[in-house]
Amino acid sequence: MLDVQAIRKDFPILHQSVHGKPLVYLDNAATTQKPRQVIQALVDYYEGYNSNVHRAVHTLGQKATAAYEESREKIANFIGAPSSQDIVYTRGTTEAINLVSYTWAEENIGPGDEIVVTEMEHHSNLVPWQRIAQAKGATLKGIPLKEDWTLDMSTLGSVITERTKLVAVTHMSNVLGTIVPVKEIVQAARRVGAKVLIDGAQAVPHMRVNVADLDCDFYAFSGHKMCGPTGIGALYVKEEVLKEMEPFHRGGEMVREVWFDRATWNDLPMRFEAGTPNIADAIALGAAVDYLQTLGMDNIRQHEIEITSYAIEAFKELEEDLDHYGPRDLQYRGGIISFYAEDVHPHDLGTFVDSYGVAIRTGHHCAMPLMRQMGLPATARASFYVYNTTEEIDILVDALKKALRYFSK
Ligand code: ALA
Repeated sequence: MLDVQAIRKDFPILHQSVHGKPLVYLDNAATTQKPRQVIQALVDYYEGYNSNVHRAVHTLGQKATAAYEESREKIANFIGAPSSQDIVYTRGTTEAINLVSYTWAEENIGPGDEIVVTEMEHHSNLVPWQRIAQAKGATLKGIPLKEDWTLDMSTLGSVITERTKLVAVTHMSNVLGTIVPVKEIVQAARRVGAKVLIDGAQAVPHMRVNVADLDCDFYAFSGHKMCGPTGIGALYVKEEVLKEMEPFHRGGEMVREVWFDRATWNDLPMRFEAGTPNIADAIALGAAVDYLQTLGMDNIRQHEIEITSYAIEAFKELEEDLDHYGPRDLQYRGGIISFYAEDVHPHDLGTFVDSYGVAIRTGHHCAMPLMRQMGLPATARASFYVYNTTEEIDILVDALKKALRYFSK
């Protein structure tokens, strides 16, 4: 069980009023708030040992390098990676997926090959594969959704074929909250020798993830959705795959030796981290991992199941005017509720509830193909995290009731 009131004390931003009302922050799928411990890690670095990493013998440089690498160890441990060498720092999930598309996919996907995604991908796990498919003469295929907003796993045998080279799937939908049985997908991909990339942006912050157990080849996620800073994330790559990959960016530190006309590459994972990295945010991401581990990922998941279940029940009061989407079985659902009212545009709903201090996201959520499939121009979305309470759900539902009344006039 999480002590939510104690947790809330760690998040300075939550203790403010918006339009004269206490802030109710329900846009956690877009980005989460940061606890003092993470903010302090940034302050400690900049006030105490700001220095470049892997370059200097001086004391500050040594200290920064140690903290930067210690953070990588924490991240590896957090997601069950066999070694910290399998973790490449990136700017976030989008850059991590692009890294794979510009390196491994460039080398390994050719004419007639197939790339399999799901029909509910975020643009960041779709558009990079469109580029590869177009450039290489490969085909992009989607695992369909069922009416209950879970993946139709019965189609795996026909969608994933001998021609499939890569299966790139989300672990949890940012629109529907659907949790994808990625382990089964990895097993199906293995049967045809395909590699698997998992977009874990919405999963890693909310549940226990173990990449070794999943046996995936690539796993991408972002720091800012898990209490860490923006501009830092990570890509896990299975060692046997990473060591065969060509570097992404070229420049300082990713090299071992350089001549005028050629160069050789540094060890893993430095080979993939050219230039001065985002040191402060990488260190603060380690602090975010510490924070989440202290709370316990199973406790976090349980808390979100409770909040989501409460929200689904509370939304029954709105059911005449508003539909919501996502699996009803919470075993397959994270802490996200997307909704749509026939008579009120989602942006109007979002603006109206903001006047009651409630922050939700509205729009297509960077998932336009899914929106088209849902037959909607956009949705409003509430998404939950460790500091959200059932009282906040009541405030949301109350504000939505007022909005629906106001716009029906
Ligand atoms: N991917 C983030 C979201 O779903 C930004 O809001």
